[in-house]
Formats: sequence, C-alpha cells, structure tokens
Amino acid sequence: MKRIPIIIDCDPGVDDSYAIALANSHPGFEIVALTAVEGNVPAVLTRYNCLCLDETFDIGAKVAYGATVPLVRPYFREESVTHGEGGVGGIQFPEPQKQPEEKAAWDVIYEEAVKYNGELVLFAVGPLTNIATALRKYPDLPKYLKKFVIMGGGTFGNVTATGAKAEFNIWVDPLAAKEVFEKLEVYMVGLNATHAAAVEAKDFDEMIEITSKGTNRASDFLNKLSKFSKENSFERGQDNNVIHDALAIASEINPDVVKYEKHYVWVEDREIENVGETVIEKEGKEPNCWVAMDVDQPLFAQMMIDCCRYYAEK
Ligand code: BDR
Ligand code: CA
Repeated sequence: MKRIPIIIDCDPGVDDSYAIALANSHPGFEIVALTAVEGNVPAVLTRYNCLCLDETFDIGAKVAYGATVPLVRPYFREESVTHGEGGVGGIQFPEPQKQPEEKAAWDVIYEEAVKYNGELVLFAVGPLTNIATALRKYPDLPKYLKKFVIMGGGTFGNVTATGAKAEFNIWVDPLAAKEVFEKLEVYMVGLNATHAAAVEAKDFDEMIEITSKGTNRASDFLNKLSKFSKENSFERGQDNNVIHDALAIASEINPDVVKYEKHYVWVEDREIENVGETVIEKEGKEPNCWVAMDVDQPLFAQMMIDCCRYYAEK
C-alpha cells in the first residue's frame, strides 16, 4: 500500500501524544516529520517530548525544532495543569538518543512538501507559529500540500480571558493563525467537534486494560497516559477526556468520524476582547475553510481503543 506522507506540527502535550500514536498506528500514513512549537509547555519541553515520542512509538521520523515564541505577543507557561508535569502527564522518558534535524521546522516542512510534490498532508495541532513562518519564507508552500488539517478554533473557545471566544492554539499566536487562514485552505477541527467526541471513563478503562497487557515501551507509555487522562478528567475536573488533537488525525484516517461544512473563517488578531476567535461567516463571503461540525463519538472512541490495541499487540 502506498502510504500518505504526513507531518505533525505539535506542542506535546497529552492529546498531541495520542495524536502521534494514532497517526503512527495507521498503516496508510507515514510520519515523515514531527515539528515542535511552543504552546502547552515551553519549547524546550515540546522539543524534548517530540524526540521522546518518536522513540517511544518507534517512528523514525525527522524531528525538527520550531518557534520558541509566538510572532507578536509573548506567551509563556511554565507548566500546565491539563498536561501535567513536563507536558505529558508527568511521565518520565528515558533520555532520548535521537538527534533533532539541524534545519528548522519551517525548512523541513517546506522541503518535505516539495519532495512529495503535492502528496503531503500537514497537520498542525499546536499554535500556528511554525506554519505561518513557513508561509512567510516559502509563499509557494500551499501548492505542494495535499491537505492542511488543524486542531484549533471552532464555534466556541476555551480561553477564559476572551470570554471563551478563543481556542488556546489560535489565541497563543493569533497573528500566525490569521496569516495561515488567509493563505491556506484549512480543515479546522475545532472545540465544538473535539468536545462532541469526548471519550468516556469506560473508554479509558478499556484503553488501560488493553495496554496493561502489552510488553513494549509504547504500550507502557499509553497505559500511563490513559491513567493520567482518566484521573485528570473524572477525578480532578480537567477535560483530558477531550482528546482534541487525535480527532484531527482521526478525521483523515476515517472520513466518517467528522463531517465538515465549508464557510468563510477569519481570525481576530487585534488585542480586543475576542482576540484569537475564529470568526465563522456562513453567508456573503467566498468560503475558505472546512469547519468540522458533526462527530461520530463512538467511532472516535473505538479508534482510540484500537490504537491502544495496536501497540499492546506489537
Ligand atoms: C488545544 O490546546 C492544547 O492544550 C491541546 O493540545 C490542543 O491542541 C485545545 O484547545
Ligand atoms: Ca496541541
């Protein structure tokens, strides 16, 4: 089977880790690069986590480092309650042997896109700083991409300071997001979709049970991650049962998981109350963005369970 080359630009991140695991478990995908951006935790950690995740899942992708700060206003969060110590649920990795690429994330993204000449699917599941930088440096990037899928935005937000109008990934770097939406056709898997796909405690129980029987590093990692996610959702009141980033990947593995509608979407980047909102205009403008609307939650939950089984039985 000819595999689709993909790049995942990410800020791991608990749900980023599930996204990488899911993509790597799909026989139709070849992850050619993981590119790290600052977001859930500082860049030094998202970079380290990308290296470790590549090794944990035995991917063998290029790992390239990207932005350490957003394009305009600074953003820095030492730790995240949602993502736990270090960014992936406090799970300790063995010191990685893998070395990052010498080239920056945006150079690797462009070079791989040119190499695969229109076949590459680019996923971005963190702030869009690396993608905006790639588009500034290489304005012809869009013609080399097969598809561009993000986890970000949506019909509502999760950043309290904006009255829950903005979603985290867009809010961290609204200028980057604005530029990206203007230059690329975006498949936007936003919060309305990811919350509708939230997995249940029984789903985590199954993921934990399955991975407890595995005897390899990936299975052990997913076991710990699922335990953290379950506790952090149902016992500590975070929403780690919303596995946002993995839904963006799932939507490309099985088109039945997410149904899109095409609308005109722009990003508010002025420092006003709703900065970072993805404003969806359903009438009057030429549609430029595929907005994820309907979700098949049982199908998504089953995909996460099957992903765990894939690693446990390896
Ligand atoms: C997004 O923000 C991050 O916390 C998650 O990794 C996800 O990409 C959800 O708003
Ligand atoms: Ca993320």
